[in-house]
Amino acid sequence: MIYAIAIDGPAGAGKSTIAKILAKELELIYVDTGALYRTIGYYVTSQGIDTADTEAVVAALDGLKVELKYVEGVQRVFANGEDVSDLIRTPAISMAASAVSAIPAVRAYLLDTQRSIAATHSVVMDGRDIGTVILPDAKIKIFLSASPESRAQRRFDELQAKGDPATYEEVLADMIKRDYDDSHRAIAPLKQAEDAIPVDTSGETLEQSVARMKEIVYKKLAE
Ligand code: DC
Repeated sequence: MIYAIAIDGPAGAGKSTIAKILAKELELIYVDTGALYRTIGYYVTSQGIDTADTEAVVAALDGLKVELKYVEGVQRVFANGEDVSDLIRTPAISMAASAVSAIPAVRAYLLDTQRSIAATHSVVMDGRDIGTVILPDAKIKIFLSASPESRAQRRFDELQAKGDPATYEEVLADMIKRDYDDSHRAIAPLKQAEDAIPVDTSGETLEQSVARMKEIVYKKLAE
């Protein structure tokens, strides 16, 4: 039987790290939907398009093919055949992804890619609107959050490990703006589905959060 686990929540709550671990343990495919919006943000920026220019962003979609591929179980994302998986992980592309994600045509463009994977495989899918819009019938829905400070600290640590020069204050300010924009946009805003289980990971170690999530998932799967 095919089933889906939908994990939504703001940036830096630990969605992707936890989803990857769950996917491995339960032998599911992990789908990072943020990577799709990041790819569009990256592509339009690399074309010299301002992400605030909605018409130009929408026009650029005609020349873009976004594909997800799984290499030894790890998701890679391609823009017109180029593997951009590593290029999309910068603070500038985080903001560009958030900006383009508020455009209805961008969300419509990515809808099929997300639904078709879940129609043919059991998945753990993370994003902002998975439980509310993309997979409203997901067997398990979790809304993962944490305080802005603890989320910014995690993202800052990740960026530092990659040698990115962003300061903690910049990361926190970007995160607060991105959460605000993602939660207040008119289409598919970040919001907890009515039937989602809320999990707050503030102050928890990764091991603690994973243990808690596993408990929720196994309990739900046994129902
Ligand atoms: O999860 P992430 O930080 O990689 O996502 C980047 C941006 O993409 C995020 O700020 C909002 C957008 N996004 C979205 O609107 N819907 C999703 N399902 C996933 C991401």
